[in-house]
Amino acid sequence: MHFTIAIDGPAASGKGTLAKALAKHFGFEHLDTGLLYRAVAARVLAGDTPEHAAQTLDTHHLTHKGMRTPEVGAEASRVAAIPAVRAALVDYQRKVARRKGGAVLDGRDIGTVIAPEAEVKFFITASDTSRAQRRLAEFTAKGIDTDLETVLRDMQDRDARDSDRAAAPLRPADDAITIDTSDLTAEEVLAIAIELVDEVLPK
Ligand code: DC
Repeated sequence: MHFTIAIDGPAASGKGTLAKALAKHFGFEHLDTGLLYRAVAARVLAGDTPEHAAQTLDTHHLTHKGMRTPEVGAEASRVAAIPAVRAALVDYQRKVARRKGGAVLDGRDIGTVIAPEAEVKFFITASDTSRAQRRLAEFTAKGIDTDLETVLRDMQDRDARDSDRAAAPLRPADDAITIDTSDLTAEEVLAIAIELVDEVLPK
């Protein structure tokens, strides 16, 4: 069975949490596509060129370790605007999206570019303040020293870059279902999404 759930949205909207939980619930594979751009960014920060880093990325050994820092996030958003970088990462993402047994992919362009044929598309949003508060809590838990104002500013810069770029900008697909998670718990978002997927999933 092929069944793809595409989840897009801005930084810290809750899309990653939802993607992981949905994949677990339905027994689908999960790909956090932001990790691809973060892995390229980490190599660029270590001295590689964006194009070379993307073309030689070892997708079998992707790790979250050291990837969710503000520096890597900002650089990821910069390399993600380079068309050659995006092009080098498309095939792998499409392969995962059509893998037998179902897949959940989260990112910025899943419903629009990577899997426009996805059976279900979600666009996850939340107010700037809730997103910044969530990101700050994540950083604090990891021992990263920062404050709400800095997190908010960095996030807004990144959102602007991700939305204003010419190559696959962040935007909802025409047939995406938008969920605003500002006043919802992760469990409430998951329950809403499961119900919507169940309506479409072949019995
Ligand atoms: O989801 P994230 O915060 O880990 O993503 C990091 C950056 O990677 C984000 O600022 C933009 C880019 N990205 C993208 O352009 N397209 C995707 N499908 C996923 C991430």
